[in-house]
Amino acid sequence: MIKLVIFDMDGVLTSTTDEHFNAWAQLFLKYYQIKLDPKLEVKTKGVSRIDSLNVLLDHYQIVCDESVKQELATEKNEQYQQFISAYDESHRLPGIIRILDYLKHKDIKMALGSASKNGPFLLKALKIDAYFDYVVDPSLLKGKPNPDIFLDAAQHFNLDPKECMGVEDAVAGVLAIKRAGMIALGLGPEDLSLADHQVKTFPELTLEKLEDLLKGTL
Ligand code: BG6
Ligand code: MG
Repeated sequence: MIKLVIFDMDGVLTSTTDEHFNAWAQLFLKYYQIKLDPKLEVKTKGVSRIDSLNVLLDHYQIVCDESVKQELATEKNEQYQQFISAYDESHRLPGIIRILDYLKHKDIKMALGSASKNGPFLLKALKIDAYFDYVVDPSLLKGKPNPDIFLDAAQHFNLDPKECMGVEDAVAGVLAIKRAGMIALGLGPEDLSLADHQVKTFPELTLEKLEDLLKGTL
């Protein structure tokens, strides 16, 4: 039986994928006069800020030293924070409250397992922070697709990974959940074939299906 559900933030609790990518796009236009190929967005999903930057620099074969990378990452984050500064409960992805209420009613613990350092800000802005028993701090952990973010949440509650389920919209995230040895619920339009079950949106997830996932009978 699942005792802990670990949620990703971007693309799971709120839709910030465009905001992350648009912030990178502004930066690349400003400093390199490059219009980012929208197909690159999927490769930056779920991976840390610096790993996302490296994906983009590598694609365009741009070489720069670590201090320049840090400056670029900082400026991207400032732009991203401007984009999300007015976020409120209207920016929750549809159907999440039904799921969070159901898990709470079943006494199942909830954690945030996001690669984003802006996760705690968004939990508060969306007014769902009260549901969460633990927030993983990604800053000292290896990023997704490494399993560390998910394992950290399990360890916090002294749970076996088999007693945990992760919810993810990104390929790197689902890989991280499976590497952690947990049940993976995939969400969104990506092809998440490694997930144990996938729905395009939360309203599509019936409580019967959720119950099967929680019991491990799916
Ligand atoms: C993930 C996003 O959730 O967080 C990535 O999908 C992003 O696109 C990563 O790079 C890190 O976010 P932040 O807010 O710490 O730059
Ligand atoms: Mg995500």
